[in-house]
Amino acid sequence: MKRFLPLVLLTAVAIVVAIVVVGVSAASSHLTEAPPQPVAFPHSLHVSDLELECAFCHRNADKTVEAGLPPVEICMFCHSVVGAGNPEIEKVRAAFASQKPIDWTRVYRVPDIVRFTHEPHIRAQLDCSNCHGDVAKMTTARPAGPLGMAQCIGCHRERGAPTDCSYCHY
Ligand code: HEC
Ligand code: HEC
Ligand code: HEC
Ligand code: HEC
Ligand code: HEC
Repeated sequence: MKRFLPLVLLTAVAIVVAIVVVGVSAASSHLTEAPPQPVAFPHSLHVSDLELECAFCHRNADKTVEAGLPPVEICMFCHSVVGAGNPEIEKVRAAFASQKPIDWTRVYRVPDIVRFTHEPHIRAQLDCSNCHGDVAKMTTARPAGPLGMAQCIGCHRERGAPTDCSYCHY
């Protein structure tokens, strides 16, 4: 074990250097409000009133790296029929007709130096609301609060998840 120690230390130093060098430009700004979106999509109506599951639109949260934002085809499942004439829904139909994806603005984004995947978190039985707040009551998604290194490590400590730099940093 002892003879690996220098290697471990070297790796740790390399990670810190890499992060500091890249981190300066990657220093993220956390949003404090919902960003303007191209379509005024109400989560509240679709989740609370229509009782759609989060996974109906965010299909990959438990499987792949990205929870994913829904392609317009998923909206057209209903909006090819529902809501003609509603100006916000007409934007959705126009996007589908012209085959132009709706260019949603991201609310949460970790910088490139950070490794985050949903899958282990969903497997550990966390709820979406642990990190994203009560989205079912929101219209367009707004940040529940900052989700930076302090929040990640705080919860990892609380729940006995790893806190080594190398788990979260490339
Ligand atoms: C399961 C069916 C269903 C799906 C899927 C669906 N919607 Fe809806 N949506 C509805 C219904 C029902 C309404 C209410 C229509 C009304 O009030 O006339 C609605 C309303 C809306 C409205 C208008 C809200 C308002 O306040 O006037 C927008 C905008 C909208 N949907 C966007 C979307 C987008 C974008 C997607 C895809 C990400 C989507 N919807 C997926 C059923 C659906
Ligand atoms: C009918 C489709 C639909 C359903 C159901 C839905 N969402 Fe969304 N969600 C969207 C769309 C469209 C966006 C992009 C617009 C926005 O940011 O509000 C989005 C954005 C988000 C974002 C912001 C992602 C980012 O970083 O930009 C989060 C977080 C989110 N949804 C969580 C949830 C959760 C949690 C649920 C279940 C309680 C849920 N959503 C149910 C369609 C849906
Ligand atoms: C442990 C905290 C945590 C939990 C739990 C969590 N998320 Fe996320 N979510 C994040 C972070 C951090 C990001 C930003 C990821 C990035 O930049 O790559 C994110 C991004 C997203 C996005 C934007 C698109 C994407 O794939 O990056 C959506 C949509 C989303 N989450 C939905 C959900 C849904 C739905 C659930 C519940 C099934 C959920 N999240 C549970 C932390 C979490
Ligand atoms: C609300 C609590 C919570 C928050 C917030 C959270 N995590 Fe986690 N994280 C966990 C739990 C629980 C696990 C699962 C540990 C296990 O499988 O034993 C985990 C696992 C992970 C893993 C996988 C570790 C492995 O075993 O390979 C990574 C990487 C990770 N989290 C990164 C992050 C990052 C980056 C953030 C912040 C953007 C974050 N987490 C925020 C609770 C959280
Ligand atoms: C549980 C996940 C996690 C662990 C463990 C972790 N970090 Fe981070 N770290 C992050 C996240 C997320 C960010 C991005 C912060 C933001 O977006 O504000 C970050 C950002 C950074 C930055 C960039 C500057 C900054 O503050 O934004 C440095 C430097 C850094 N981490 C060093 C480390 C070192 C050194 C360790 C080990 C002692 C470590 N991190 C452990 C998640 C983690």
